[in-house]
Amino acid sequence: MAEAFNDLVLPTEKVARYAALVEEVAAVLEGEPNLTAKMATVASMLASSFDHFFWTGFYVVDPDKHDELVVGPYQGSLGCMRIAFGRGVCGTAAATGRSQVVDDVHAFPGHIACDARSASEIVVPVFDAEGTLIAVLDIDSEQPAAFDGNDDLWLKTLMAQVFADGRPA
Ligand code: SME
Repeated sequence: MAEAFNDLVLPTEKVARYAALVEEVAAVLEGEPNLTAKMATVASMLASSFDHFFWTGFYVVDPDKHDELVVGPYQGSLGCMRIAFGRGVCGTAAATGRSQVVDDVHAFPGHIACDARSASEIVVPVFDAEGTLIAVLDIDSEQPAAFDGNDDLWLKTLMAQVFADGRPA
């Protein structure tokens, strides 16, 4: 137990890193309107901020289907191409519009295993300034129970800043 705990980022350190990251992302993306550029930049900066993030990226709402996600910019091993709304962790976040924090992905009904090394994950819905769902942010870790309410709060803040002009979802 102690060993597993030592592998995780301590809460205060996590909060400090997220706070710095939010500032850095704002500086890098200032004036940039392109969605792909924003998602690629956020995925890269998140992945390099936390060593225990194993897969970090976006599944975007397919503009032609509306009830299906298609893989977007990401960092990590090969991701699944498409996920129907309601399927797995990403599909549940998209269908409900609510964050999913999963301590053990193998216990999550319908979890889609893109990479067997993934043990826990967080998926945060991404809305535009009008409140329309445009994507989900998916972060996976090889460590079990790697995500908590702090991750959810800071990732929601980051998504609102980058994709919704700072408007909370
Ligand atoms: N684990 C996700 C699928 C996407 S991959 O992890 C990159 C899910 O069940 O939604």
